[in-house]
Amino acid sequence: MSVEKIIESSEFNPIKAKYLYWNNFMYDKVKFNLGDSLIHSTEHTSRVLLFALLLADHYQLNPQDTDILAMAAVFHDTRRLNDHIDTGHGERAAAYYATFCVNSGLPYEKLTYLIISYHDRDDDLGISMIAEQFPNHEKAIFLYKIFKDSDGLDRLRLGSKWLDLNRLRTDYALKLLPLAKKLNGFTNV
Ligand SMILES: [Fe+2]
Ligand SMILES: [Fe+2]
Repeated sequence: MSVEKIIESSEFNPIKAKYLYWNNFMYDKVKFNLGDSLIHSTEHTSRVLLFALLLADHYQLNPQDTDILAMAAVFHDTRRLNDHIDTGHGERAAAYYATFCVNSGLPYEKLTYLIISYHDRDDDLGISMIAEQFPNHEKAIFLYKIFKDSDGLDRLRLGSKWLDLNRLRTDYALKLLPLAKKLNGFTNV
């Protein structure tokens, strides 16, 4: 089932407006290096955006923090060179996000930049880089973990063996598993 269909269900009302805003933003304004990729372009991004907004809603993040995650979702895989590990695509996508902000007036958030930069790196590295830049870093690190879980849940698109549930970082991500399965065509949800 697609996000487009699922978002019409009333259970998603709390996040629907934000989802539609950022999803339309992605389709209207954002360019993907691998636009034809079946696993790393718009449909993956829509699902990551949905998971990020659901996690933000569950953890009662404020609108600014929610937008930090939404922007990270929209830009995170835009500068891939291939569909494999492609370490460094996070850093390139972050540079694209920063330039995009300068050129378009989209508010630049340092934390969005860092989340995008380090979404393709080990948690330890990402967390230490974020901790360095944010003195009161507990919440910033939590947002990084939420984002990595949102991206991680959609590893199901590659097959169930690609998602290691023990690596999910937040309790609520596990609760989103049935939804992630449904969105990725699993029938045994
Ligand atoms: Fe990525
Ligand atoms: Fe991704």
